[in-house]
Amino acid sequence: MNQELDNYLQLSEEQMKKLGYQTVDIIVKHFTELRNKPVTRKATRSRMEELFREPIPHQGTNPEHILKLIEDDIFTNIMHTDHPRFFAFVPTTNNFISVLADALVAGFNPFAGTWLESSSAAQIELVTVDWLRQIFGMPDKAGGLFLSGGSTANLIGLAVARHVKLNNRIDNSVVYFSDQTHSSVERGLKVIGFSEENVCKIISDDDFQLPVDRLSIKIKEDKKSGKIPFCVVANAGTTNTGSVDPLIELSRLCKKEDLWFHIDGAFGAAAILDAKGNELLQGIDQADSLVIDPHKWWFQPYEISCLLIRDSKLLKETFRILPEYLKDIDRSKEEINFCDYGTQLTRSFRALKLWMSLKCFGLDAFKQAVAKGFKLAEYTEYIVRENPLLEVITPAQMGIITFRFAKNNLITEQLNEINRSIVDKIISDGYAMVASTQLKDKIVLRMCTINPRTTKDDIRQTVEKIAKFGQELLTS
Ligand SMILES: Cc1ncc(COP(=O)(O)O)c(C=O)c1O
Repeated sequence: MNQELDNYLQLSEEQMKKLGYQTVDIIVKHFTELRNKPVTRKATRSRMEELFREPIPHQGTNPEHILKLIEDDIFTNIMHTDHPRFFAFVPTTNNFISVLADALVAGFNPFAGTWLESSSAAQIELVTVDWLRQIFGMPDKAGGLFLSGGSTANLIGLAVARHVKLNNRIDNSVVYFSDQTHSSVERGLKVIGFSEENVCKIISDDDFQLPVDRLSIKIKEDKKSGKIPFCVVANAGTTNTGSVDPLIELSRLCKKEDLWFHIDGAFGAAAILDAKGNELLQGIDQADSLVIDPHKWWFQPYEISCLLIRDSKLLKETFRILPEYLKDIDRSKEEINFCDYGTQLTRSFRALKLWMSLKCFGLDAFKQAVAKGFKLAEYTEYIVRENPLLEVITPAQMGIITFRFAKNNLITEQLNEINRSIVDKIISDGYAMVASTQLKDKIVLRMCTINPRTTKDDIRQTVEKIAKFGQELLTS
């Protein structure tokens, strides 16, 4: 760094503006040119070592050179999960308003853990969480907080369940969920002290849903044998197929058996903004704890997830500890200290991006963008069904469709191998990104079509390429 500017890590006003505008230019260029870039880009480890391995830089470098390096070598060696033809995993469809919000948050760096340090940030978080509470039809006393992602939100929700239902004594306890449940639930349980004996994973039915009758029998059997059932985790949109567990029936069962009802809506809860999604998600308002990830289908940059708890005071009951050096934050009951609601004391002002983008675009714009995801998945299903080389495995639901390359004369193992290899071809081709998953014994291709900037042509060409790659693999 230029010595005259390096005044205890400070830049001059002029330098800040110059670099700031250059940075904005780089981001805007990314937004405007994204469609024309290849979707996939994966460098080898040795190439990355060659580019970036170096001793700790004791002396500074001109930041403009660093910006150039970032633009040329860092953001070119990533897959563009925000690209309109990125259909793998869960695409991230950013919006520029939220990017500005994140930049502002980094600039002001408010401490969003306590009211004393950031009353306005706490109030914006309260208001934005309350908007979500209203969207999901939860009672007035419900509330929550913003967290880093669905994995953390599942963990925090389950920690509340453990506290409320078990008073943190986990011996003999059982939590139930289907084999389609996201791995973060199992990992979260592990982190908070549960082991395999405490987990009952129920095989999903033909629609990849949690079968309530089987679950009900299992709970009764477990109670009879002296175990302590305490929680059911339901999926509001599984990662694999988008299937939604029967939420109304599960909530009734939980009430009857006095179990905590946790819903993982990290992927699918956002679909409540669409009429079909709303229909599929009936019963979501009955959750004791609900995870929603705005950084998935509500178009936010990472990291923002929301955990809603039916009775928000339970969060404080679970997590609050007030040490002597924080006594000054404890001023009045009206002042909310979000550090009491989870495991983070120092926390960023995640709410600003969701608040700002909702205010700038309006909820109706979000509704339209979510609805497009449903339509694109339905269109994908239509195109796949038209293609004699492809077979739909699960129909379009919640913006996800699964299918596979299929030829009558091939056995499952051969088809599995071809479909897996199709992903390799997709990655090296770069036009689009589609990943595989396994449903029962079948390797399938899965397209998640929640980017509202995707066009029908993007879908058609991607599906055509998949069929072509399958054919090439057959004849090679
Ligand atoms: C259903 C579901 N739950 C939880 C998660 C984990 O969320 P995150 O990656 O934000 O931690 C995911 C991620 O895709 C998911 O699809």
